Formats: sequence, C-alpha cells, structure tokens
Amino acid sequence: MVLLASLLAFAQGPARHVNQQRLWATLEKLSEFGRPAGAGFEGGVTRVGFSEEDLAARGWLMQQMREAGLEVRVDPAGNIFGKRAGSEKFPTILFGSHIDSVPRGGNFDGDVGSLGALEVMRALRDGKIATRHPLEIVIWTNEEGHHFGRGLLGSSAAAGLLSADVLERRDEEGKTLADWLRRYGQDPARLADARIAPGALAAYLELHIEQGGVLDESKIQIGVVQGIVGIHWWTCTASGFANHAGTTPMNRRQDALAAAARAALAVREEVRAESGRQVGTIGYVRVEPGARNIIPGRVEFPVELRDLDAAKVLRIWARIEKRFAEIAKEENVKLDCVPLQADEPALTDTAIQNDIRAAARAAGYSTLDLPSGAGHDAQQIAKLAPIGMIFVPSRGGISHSPREYSAPADVANGAEVLYRTILLLDERLNRKP
Ligand code: GLV
Ligand code: MN
Ligand code: MN
Repeated sequence: MVLLASLLAFAQGPARHVNQQRLWATLEKLSEFGRPAGAGFEGGVTRVGFSEEDLAARGWLMQQMREAGLEVRVDPAGNIFGKRAGSEKFPTILFGSHIDSVPRGGNFDGDVGSLGALEVMRALRDGKIATRHPLEIVIWTNEEGHHFGRGLLGSSAAAGLLSADVLERRDEEGKTLADWLRRYGQDPARLADARIAPGALAAYLELHIEQGGVLDESKIQIGVVQGIVGIHWWTCTASGFANHAGTTPMNRRQDALAAAARAALAVREEVRAESGRQVGTIGYVRVEPGARNIIPGRVEFPVELRDLDAAKVLRIWARIEKRFAEIAKEENVKLDCVPLQADEPALTDTAIQNDIRAAARAAGYSTLDLPSGAGHDAQQIAKLAPIGMIFVPSRGGISHSPREYSAPADVANGAEVLYRTILLLDERLNRKP
C-alpha cells in the first residue's frame, strides 16, 4: 500500500511546497479591487496605478503580508516591501512584481508574481524554513505607467533612473505625481531616498505570465527568461489648421489627422523594414477639435518602439523621423515628437537562469528559454543586482485584455519554481570559495 502510494506520488511528480488553492483564492480576492460591475474573476480588471482601486488593493495586500508574518514598509516611491529575516547579515534576496493594471486589463499581469511571492513567504512559514539571506517581497508602484507617462515608476526610483521633472507630471485630472505620492502617505521631496543602495541586494527574481503564446502553444510549463526588451516612448503632435469641412477645398487643407494617419503607417513600414522581433505601436490618437464638420487641427499620438537591442531601436527611430519630416512637408502640417521615456533592455543573469532550470527540473516541469517582449520592473533592477525571471503560460497568448488567463496549475507551478529558486540562490550565493 505504502509502495503504491509512493509510486503514484512519483508518477505525479514531486509534491509542491506552495498551496495552489490558497494562491488562487488570493488572486480571486485581489481581482475584486477594480472589477467591472457584474463581472466575475475572469471578467478582467481596471486597477490603474495611482487610482482609488489601486490604493484600496495596496491596503488589503499589506494586511495579507503582515498576517504572513512579514515586516512591512513603504518606500518614498510607494513601493511596498515585506521582509523575512535571514540567519546571516547578507544582502537581501528580493522578489515580487506589481498589482497595478492597464485600463480594461486582466487579473494575471503582475498579480501572479506579486501573490506568487506572498505564497512563497506563506509556504516558507508553513514549512518553518530558515534561510541564510534575508528574503523580501516587493510590490512596485505604477509599473504600467498609464498615468504620468512613466512606466516602471517604482523600480526606476529604486534604481535611481527617474528624471528630476517626474514629480510635476500631471495626469488626465491635472493631479501631479507629487499629489499622488502624498495620497500614498509619502513625502514627494524624499523620492530620491527610494533608491536602493548598491550591494543591498543579492539577487532579484520576478515571476510573471508570459503574455505571449509561445509556452501555451508548445505546452511547456515554465519559461526561463533570457532578457527583457527596451521600451522607448515618444509623444508626437501633428499641428495643422482647424477649418470648415464644407468650404475648404481638398488642396487647401492642413489636415493634422491625415498626417497622423500617414505617420502611423510609416511607423509600421519602418519597423517591418528590418528582420527581427522588434515591434512598434501607436496606441491612441487624440484629435482636436474632434467634430464631424471641422478639419482636424491638432492630433496627439504616441510612438512606442521595443527591442532587445537598443541601437536597433534608435536606428529605426532615425528612419521614422525622416519619414515624418517628409509627411509634414507634403501635408503642410508641423509634426513634432518629444521623447518621454527610454527603458534599456536588460539581460538576465545566466547563473540564475541555471538555478531556475534546476528548480523546474526538480519539481518535474518542462522549461523553455525565451525573451520577454513585455517590459518588467526587473529590467530596472538589473542595474542593482543580478536578475532572473520565471514565466508561466498565458492562454492563447492574450494579455493587456480582460481575456488574459493562466490556469491555476500553471500559476502554482510558477510559484513553486520561485520557491525552489529562492532556496537554491540562498544556498549558492555568498559562499566562501
Ligand atoms: C508592461 O506591461 C508593458 O510591457 O507595457
Ligand atoms: Mn502589463
Ligand atoms: Mn506586468
């Protein structure tokens, strides 16, 4: 009987340390903050960074962290930390993600890594496991950057990568970032103090959904991330002349929307003009005055370019700028672009990649190495410490959508790999040769 039970257990793979049901129930609970009226857990979420929903979710999560026995603090950028002591005075092993979402986003982007980190802390406590290094969860502020045109905000502050003007940036309601930090209980004048001291971190790990379809299609359980793309944002304005749509002949128009439309296609053409995985997007247009019978006088649109190779992005941008100048001349409008943010690509640490692979293998999961086309806070923390990222499958490769979904078992597999990787790092790092 005992033999049969152990044979069965072997066939199912080694037991997990993390608790799948507890993790899933915590994800469901978090999804209530910003859930659309009448929707269920799979109906998506709008919990934009610096919103009432975000504020309420942060309060709830800090309570969960305290109940898990963690020492909770919030830094001047609003990043939430939850610490568990180690037996030695070593630098900290940090792991976490974000809980803000895009507008009409899903309940997995960021949430899986944040609550997966919490589940790891709960499982370590259940197992009465002591570590040599202090372990700390982090929930980064405003990763998506919907407001204030600055994604990866909290991690950029931690890495000392924020420009001085950022506090005065305004959201759609006219509130500045400084106003919002005050609502998070912080003194904006101290933002620079959010910087993490060099040497304070032994390593940083982030569990995340893949957000693409590679793992789902190939039925692989764990992605080992090789690197994270750089993300460059510009804000462009086409300025023409708003005039009567009935009386202005076609050859006398200065139509800002016609120029912006041509600009959008030029971006696509220039991004496609070279081989590789680079992508370019124009995510919105704001047309003014915005009436059926007025020729658009002003159009604002963003340009976003991403690739693992920063030089390639700048090369493509140089071609786009040239095309924009030609379009502006032909359409008789002004077309100006200002850079808003540029987050550098980052490679993950190859030794940590090995640890993640070993952790997954020991848990009985298949792995695949792949790059990340999405941005992550880990890319900023790469300036401070070696980083590693663990991906789990996204159903249908859908993300930044209410239809984003990862299965409970996949989410728990990711948390289990995070748990095991942390313990491998704790063993391997800071050993005397
Ligand atoms: C973050 O989610 C990004 O890649 O835009
Ligand atoms: Mn996202
Ligand atoms: Mn994310």
